[in-house]
Amino acid sequence: MADYEWKSAITDIGPGKIRVRGYHITDIMDKLSFAETVFLILKGELPTKAEAEMMRAILVASIDHGCSPPSVLGTRNVVSGGNPLNAAVAGGVLVIGDSHGGAIENSAKIMQEWAKKDGDVETLASEMVDWLKEKKIRMPGFGHRLHNVDPRTLKLFEIAGKCGFSGRHIELCKAVEKALENKLGRKLPINVDGAIAAVISDMNFDWRLGKGFFIISRVPGLISHAYEEMTREKPMRQLGNRNFTYDGPGEREI
Ligand SMILES: CC(C)(COP(=O)(O)OP(=O)(O)OC[C@H]1O[C@@H](n2cnc3c(N)ncnc32)[C@H](O)[C@@H]1OP(=O)(O)O)[C@@H](O)C(=O)NCCC(=O)NCCS
Repeated sequence: MADYEWKSAITDIGPGKIRVRGYHITDIMDKLSFAETVFLILKGELPTKAEAEMMRAILVASIDHGCSPPSVLGTRNVVSGGNPLNAAVAGGVLVIGDSHGGAIENSAKIMQEWAKKDGDVETLASEMVDWLKEKKIRMPGFGHRLHNVDPRTLKLFEIAGKCGFSGRHIELCKAVEKALENKLGRKLPINVDGAIAAVISDMNFDWRLGKGFFIISRVPGLISHAYEEMTREKPMRQLGNRNFTYDGPGEREI
């Protein structure tokens, strides 16, 4: 039976040859920044100046958010249990999900689906919030435990404006923030996930890449936390909230 052959359009390799999306790695090393290279490998084409600048800001925005995020606690717990850096970073990445970091994916999916519809963004946002309420879905990319206004969102939208990416998705995202406040009676600020979701949608990225942007940005942060935990803390220390009350069955006999 002939060897099973499959195709990949990402990187061509051979003896002495590595070409990412067609470009020699040595030329990329000479000429592109990390953010530009991330754009190239994800999109398949070189970024324009504006795309490169936007990508740089996106990758910087989520690099770290202190010791409280679940992924950081995951990473630190894995180290604290006596495991190496690779396991700790993998553990932290596994914690990233629809409620933390991974909200970019679903936020972009919803935004991309709704932005395609006819109508002005205010009407669409209002209908979207009614739909979310009916389905009992929390709008991904909105709300934050700490920030009433997420400074990363403001900066990303400012840079998006300068780079020419303030399109229908960002407009819709801002309108959804207002509609949530009007209809739910509470301020749910656009968080960094929601802002990235809107920006990458205006940059024509597929929503299925959403979690990837957060992972690429956050891994250096997780590595720093793993290293600090290894070098500053005692093994198996008590991390997180120890305040819990047992409310299962009382003492009983078998
Ligand atoms: C980020 C998040 C977990 C912070 O939560 P919090 O500030 O601790 O708020 P709570 O989970 O206590 O929720 C408080 C209320 O706001 C509502 N709420 C919070 N975020 C909401 C959202 N994105 N959409 C709709 N309602 C939301 C909750 O349903 C709850 O309502 P209730 O009191 O009627 O039950 C929350 O806003 C959320 O789940 N956001 C969506 C996921 C997301 O964007 N994650 C990325 C975080 S960077």
